[in-house]
Amino acid sequence: MNKRIHHPKEELSNQIRAGMFQTEPKSLRTFTPTQAVLAESSGIYHWTPEGRRLYDFSSGVLVANLGHNSVSWMDRFFGHMGYQSFLAERVGPQTSNTSTQPYFRAAPLTAYNAITPVEVKANQTLLELMRSRPGGARMEKVLWAASGSEAVQKSLWASLARSKSKDIIVATRYGFHGKKGLSHAITGSETDHERDPRVRFISFPMEERRDVSQRGDSFDFAPYALELNALKKEFGDRITALCTEPYLGGGGSYHPPKAYLQGLQNFCREHDILFLLDEVQSNFGRTGSLFAFETYGLEPDLVILGKGLGNGVPVAAVVGRGDVLESLDYGEASDTWSANPLQAAATLATLEEFHELNILATMKASSALLEEGLLKLKQFPFVAHLRGEQGGMVWGLEFKDHDGLTGPEWANRFVLASYLGGFPKTDLESGQGQSSDGIHFLGPLAKKVIRISPPLIIQPQQARDATLLMYQAAQSLMTDGVNRC
Ligand SMILES: Cc1ncc(COP(=O)(O)O)c(C=O)c1O
Repeated sequence: MNKRIHHPKEELSNQIRAGMFQTEPKSLRTFTPTQAVLAESSGIYHWTPEGRRLYDFSSGVLVANLGHNSVSWMDRFFGHMGYQSFLAERVGPQTSNTSTQPYFRAAPLTAYNAITPVEVKANQTLLELMRSRPGGARMEKVLWAASGSEAVQKSLWASLARSKSKDIIVATRYGFHGKKGLSHAITGSETDHERDPRVRFISFPMEERRDVSQRGDSFDFAPYALELNALKKEFGDRITALCTEPYLGGGGSYHPPKAYLQGLQNFCREHDILFLLDEVQSNFGRTGSLFAFETYGLEPDLVILGKGLGNGVPVAAVVGRGDVLESLDYGEASDTWSANPLQAAATLATLEEFHELNILATMKASSALLEEGLLKLKQFPFVAHLRGEQGGMVWGLEFKDHDGLTGPEWANRFVLASYLGGFPKTDLESGQGQSSDGIHFLGPLAKKVIRISPPLIIQPQQARDATLLMYQAAQSLMTDGVNRC
């Protein structure tokens, strides 16, 4: 779908889009009908090159949890790198630019095999934080990576290295763990092409939790126990690890009952199977607690972190049992970027911001308002379900067939209408006429589910204004939905 996307009244954006299409293959992006061009960003907002403001309801892809270009985060990040004197000279109030030195002293941008103090400080801070949370008792060592999929891969390498006879990995069906190597092997289901024979899948509750209205419903683990026992019978002691996301993210935002994840963990404990929790997208507040293992009452052997860990700087990590991570020998999990000082400085800045600004407490009020607003969208005949964790900051809004259009078509139209905006101003904005504000979403997950995941720092008033915009976008589809896009 290499559509040359152009939007009216977006001359600058259209030029940049055209430049991108000429110089990059389409495979670099997932399809989003807006192909928004983001010239500047601050907090929860982006601005297009034309100066139109967009609420960022994607946070990159659940990365900018602390908002875009936070001054205090940057201060900490540069501080950990030791850039103060450089910056003071270049951009400080008394810009003298008189230095005759071509280099300055600070942490190196790259250290590879060498060890930097900032790296060890990041290890200690991360481990101390995770161990202090309920369920963090097994957090003993950190194995860094440069992306979520790499970290998943490293967690599985370590699990397989435990013993030659333990060569089977169990994963939950329709999960998303990445597109490379073993992270891809445990993504999706057994029907996928070129399936790795070492991977077996078990079901994840979807029907039981299709909508927030089912949150408190009773849950029967028995059918899942049957699947696990069948695998145990087939493979005996060969199963080394079971890896799951806390909630199915890329698979369409399915948030399971605690009893499901706890049942998986119990099974692992009974049979010396490692319990791996892929928190690449859930970490740092998305499920309402700092880590999803707290939300679901778990104590994983390995936790995989990513996305929000660096608030925009590419960093990921496997954190967990020392004996497991030490199963890999020198060099077996090394690469050019892992444990890079930039990653360590970004991680420290993120952890300090969460601690000092009490991000999760402020998030709760906005979470309730957003959910209230999202529930109102269910009155539209093309909206099927809303899913998410109470008090969290990520929801999936599922669309359905209506009036001759399919759920995926309505979902794409909603993304586009929200982006284009142009709805009447409300008295909240104390103005008349049309607002030029829009909302930046990504294209639908699992074809027909829109993910709502603003930065966690969204304020209650911003949440109110943005839910109104979403409502207006849905309403506009009722009146001119088919023509609009
Ligand atoms: C749960 C989960 N695991 C792993 C990944 C892969 O991360 P990355 O894209 O950084 O490789 C993702 C990415 O969306 C994810 O959501």
